[in-house]
Amino acid sequence: MPAVVVVGMQFGDESKGAVVDYLAEWANLVVRYNGGSNAGHTVVANGEEYKLHLIPSSVVREKKGVLGAGVAFDPEVFLEELRDLKSRGRNIDVLVSLKATLLLPYHKGLDSVISGGRLGTTKRGIGPAYQDKMARVTGLKVADLFSSNFPQRLKEVLEIKESELRNAGILTGSIDDYYLELLTKAEEWRNSLSSFVGDDHLEVNGAIAEGKFVLFEGAQGTMLDVDHGTYPFVTSSNPVAGGACTGAGISPLAIDSVVGVMKAYTTRVGKGPFPTELSGNVADYIRDKGGEYGTTTGRPRRVGWLDLPMLRYSAMINGVGYLAMRKLDVLSGLDKIKIAVAYEIDGEEVEIAPPYVNELEKARPIYKELEGWEVDDWKKFVKGGWNSLPEEVRNYVSFVEKEVEAKTILIGVGPDREMSIPTQHLKEIVPS
Ligand code: GDP
Ligand code: IMO
Ligand code: MG
Repeated sequence: MPAVVVVGMQFGDESKGAVVDYLAEWANLVVRYNGGSNAGHTVVANGEEYKLHLIPSSVVREKKGVLGAGVAFDPEVFLEELRDLKSRGRNIDVLVSLKATLLLPYHKGLDSVISGGRLGTTKRGIGPAYQDKMARVTGLKVADLFSSNFPQRLKEVLEIKESELRNAGILTGSIDDYYLELLTKAEEWRNSLSSFVGDDHLEVNGAIAEGKFVLFEGAQGTMLDVDHGTYPFVTSSNPVAGGACTGAGISPLAIDSVVGVMKAYTTRVGKGPFPTELSGNVADYIRDKGGEYGTTTGRPRRVGWLDLPMLRYSAMINGVGYLAMRKLDVLSGLDKIKIAVAYEIDGEEVEIAPPYVNELEKARPIYKELEGWEVDDWKKFVKGGWNSLPEEVRNYVSFVEKEVEAKTILIGVGPDREMSIPTQHLKEIVPS
């Protein structure tokens, strides 16, 4: 049975939550490998909507979840999410890696002051937490929280960070008071978290060795990857499929396939280049119909046509063999739908997006126009399956899969779990 990575192919919010929830029907374990509570993954099931920030999306099906070493772990958000899910009757089985990076309240403060406005971050403390992880002397892991040495380590960290915290206006009183405040919080977190933390590498690798179906749930998207995205307008982790190896501690040889999740159009929240961005009536139509407002921050998402150069780049970087294309229902009602098939950059035609801000800012999309479709009620198509769909919808999906050289396993025509339509290729990746 396979290990499958589910990765965002665009700028995040592609509907990874909905796809992971769908595939989790077959999964034994679902592992988040990157990012933190900047993620907002939506699952709609049985008329209930769940917006998940840290806990893997498989929690709605009450499947076991793991937060791997690559995750920036915010105990406050995790405990709040846990309370919320419990109050909604979910049984939660989740393991937090001892190796995950501990994200503390001052990281959120620093994010708001330093990078929030300049980069348009989610202000969840992601950049500052990973910055401390890489600096090492100021980084803390979940394991540190449970070590008898924690008070000493925290003291050392605060000594180094004191001037930074004062300059940012986060620390205004005495450092000793601030230290004691954090120690008290840490004590509360330890008590609440002790039954959730543990050794994830044996859990994850053991499940793979036993032939279980293990899903790796990426957060953010390929174009937001700190190494492979539109730097500096990116997040501070590796959402790409390779991030599953480092972030979950598995061998590249363990991964059987990669499912690229994409919207039928493009959105981006926050700053940075966006070659196919639209403004005006069509953008408003898609934003309103698609509910394109950030799951984590509520900000309106920027909206544009589908971008094949970007998808080809993403497919190449991630080894995407399978596609899940969501939100085809949102494009319904448009007479013609455009897809960027290439860019023109400095007079040259380019088929694969260069992930450099300077180049992307010059990129002029070359569009192909496809016929639109008009569907008010998708239920009969959900019942009838792929072959019952209007020809224009099938043409759109087939055109993309041919251009991206991947097979579609699933399309989405609504947010609810029941509004996913599988194709014949789904059985190639899930256990029979
Ligand atoms: P994620 O971060 O990749 O998990 O995506 P988000 O949850 O942030 O954003 C996707 C949004 O689209 C959520 O509100 C989903 O409920 C919704 N959604 C998912 N699939 C579909 C679909 O096929 N059609 C429509 N209309 N909405 C969808
Ligand atoms: P999911 O997992 C969409 C964006 C922010 C900003 C940039 C850096 O739900 O797809 P950060 O807070 O990470 O330092 O912000 O990345 N961003 C996302 N955009 N979906 C996300 O997550 C995102 N997580 C971060 O808007 O532009
Ligand atoms: Mg999201």
